[in-house]
Amino acid sequence: MTSTTKLTITQPDDWHLHLRDGVVLKDVLGHTSRQFGRAIVMPNLRPPITTVELALQYQARILQAIKELPENSQSFVPLMTLYLTDNTKASEIAKAKEAGIVALKLYPAGATTNSDAGVTNLAKCDEVLDAMAQHNLPLLVHGEVTSAEIDLFDREAIFIEEVLHPLRMRHPQLRVVFEHITTSQAVDYVNTTDTANLGEIAATITAHHLLYNRNAIFLGGIRPHFYCLPVLKREQHRLALLNAATSDSKRFFLGTDSAPHSKHLKENECGCAGCFTAPQAVEFYAQAFDSVGKLQQLEAFASFRGPDFYGLPRNTKQITLEKTSQTIPSTYQFGEEEIVPLNAGKSLDWTFLG
Ligand code: NCD
Ligand code: ZN
Repeated sequence: MTSTTKLTITQPDDWHLHLRDGVVLKDVLGHTSRQFGRAIVMPNLRPPITTVELALQYQARILQAIKELPENSQSFVPLMTLYLTDNTKASEIAKAKEAGIVALKLYPAGATTNSDAGVTNLAKCDEVLDAMAQHNLPLLVHGEVTSAEIDLFDREAIFIEEVLHPLRMRHPQLRVVFEHITTSQAVDYVNTTDTANLGEIAATITAHHLLYNRNAIFLGGIRPHFYCLPVLKREQHRLALLNAATSDSKRFFLGTDSAPHSKHLKENECGCAGCFTAPQAVEFYAQAFDSVGKLQQLEAFASFRGPDFYGLPRNTKQITLEKTSQTIPSTYQFGEEEIVPLNAGKSLDWTFLG
């Protein structure tokens, strides 16, 4: 007799998500709200969400779209962020806190998709960063240096020394989330820095960085759907991330960085960065944790440590996964746009039941 393995855990949250806007918003949202209770919504729209007013308008569009989703998705809560620029005013921080904005996002100018308006010089943000520390609003960091002469694969490790650590020394009360970490250097930095003297630090980890190394981008030819930023790294880094995610450390939690782009913009001579993982997000993470026999750690990583860091209650609903294989669809239709999910057409060992 065979028995299927089931896993029931507290409903997870996604602490780093791109929901986009406009006609595709409802479709993008539908996938995440089926699995997750809440998500931190990235502000890198065009134009970026740089003020409380813009964030509240974006939140209203998301809440409107939620009303059109199936009943069991309607309790989904979008957590809003602001996009930090050279010109963000310190006075915006108190307003942000009051409006329920949960964090500010640092994109070094030019680091990734829609980051042209990002920060060119962090020294210009000192007053804002002090205000954030004072109001207990964390800084979410896209941790890559941007100089063209620095090797793409070294950008995160160099960012730690040149930007992140000095930033935390200058603002010792500031709480920081090192977003979508990809290297063993980032794991070591998050694990070892002394939070007695510096503000708390945590990191999000995507499912794709737990499952794939950089070979996936070049397997038998160029594979644009595996291209994201920060780019996938060597196997030794993937193993360090997997070890961190499945460890008992409270500093690592789930953030999919699910970032849809149209098929024609990914399969392009200058393809966009971003992997769309939302439809099977929890299954991808289950697959990664299962690969090292650590499924028992999934709930803490996916459902407990994020809300604990942000001072929010843990979700009360539960979700169940079953170890039955599913085939990932080759595309999704979002309005006029065709979106190719990560690992399209391939199978996954786990299936989300609800
Ligand atoms: C993200 C996007 O498409 O918005 N792309 C990505 O490769 N992760 C931006 C980001 O988070 O860097
Ligand atoms: Zn992102």
